[in-house]
Amino acid sequence: AAEKGLKDYYRNYFTVGVAVNMAAIQGAEADLIKKEFNSITAENDMKMGPIHPQENVYDWSRADAIVDFAVKNKIRIRGHNLLWHTQAPAWMFKDSEGNQVSKAVLLARLKDHITTVVNRYKGKIYAWDVVNEAIDDNKDTYFRNTLWYKICGEDFIAKAFEYAHAADPSAALYYNDYNSEDEVKREKIYKLCKSLKDAGVPIHGIGLQGHWKLNDPSPEMLRKALDRYASLGLKLQVTELDITVRTRFKPGAPALPADSGLTPALAQQQADRYAEIFKILREYKGVITNVTFWNVSDKHSWLDLRRGGLAGGAAAGEVTSRKIVKAYPLLFDEQLGRKKAYWSVVNF
Ligand code: XIL
Repeated sequence: AAEKGLKDYYRNYFTVGVAVNMAAIQGAEADLIKKEFNSITAENDMKMGPIHPQENVYDWSRADAIVDFAVKNKIRIRGHNLLWHTQAPAWMFKDSEGNQVSKAVLLARLKDHITTVVNRYKGKIYAWDVVNEAIDDNKDTYFRNTLWYKICGEDFIAKAFEYAHAADPSAALYYNDYNSEDEVKREKIYKLCKSLKDAGVPIHGIGLQGHWKLNDPSPEMLRKALDRYASLGLKLQVTELDITVRTRFKPGAPALPADSGLTPALAQQQADRYAEIFKILREYKGVITNVTFWNVSDKHSWLDLRRGGLAGGAAAGEVTSRKIVKAYPLLFDEQLGRKKAYWSVVNF
């Protein structure tokens, strides 16, 4: 019999996915993906900017390649994402004179975008992250003050779900966000999803991105969030899981020490943390339907060397004065080998 992969260990719980770019669907990484995963998400290539760079101009090349790879290998596909404030093309919000468009124009463009993209992959993409990160992190503010919000008010959220549902009534539609375990943000996400559901808007699930750390969120916070969201009768997915071994950068904090690699002590802490998290995720059998890792291996993580981001702690212009700082957040090492964390996830 073939060697088991993550997807086989978790067959009775949820599908196990991975975020990919063009490099990951070729060569050794592609082989690893076929063995370990049964769900795939495009890391960037289905976002509005990359796929719809100009009005009436779509670039399907990379998204099509990812979809073809998945279909050929019988891997399920999550679509990510239909609306976000980041990686949204500038033209979307401007008229030909460079002035900001009206709400009516912006919603018409949004409808065209969502209808075209969802329709192209109808029957192939089973779930979409429809709206990404619309809730603000600041405790006194409900919605993030993006161009979408400034121009449309909160209406763009319900509209996005309606457009997606009209284009593919069979697709499962998700609201997706990070820090979803934080009590204040959790209640805002809950409130939004509840109001959408109560209003009859076609929303089917909540995505918890899962960009987590060794000690955050606590098991208690995670369970509370999962319970709270599940009480809405929506499906839950962990859409972008990684567990960095580096602490969050704070402006003004001293430089991180030179990257000494994933030491045995850090590898063990990470393995224990992964075990703790997956134990909790298994408790939600039937509610959590997918867990997706954000990138394949520690060879490449979006967290590596981010300026001011989770892993790097390097301010703009400072990068060259430091050793490369890596996050080592995934289950496979830089040579694509299974890490200690891998075994802690599958031994249960
Ligand atoms: C990230 C990609 O991994 C990066 O390559 C890109 O530069 C920025 O976006 N939340 C999301 C994802 O919903 O789309 C983001 O992906 C990570 C944070």
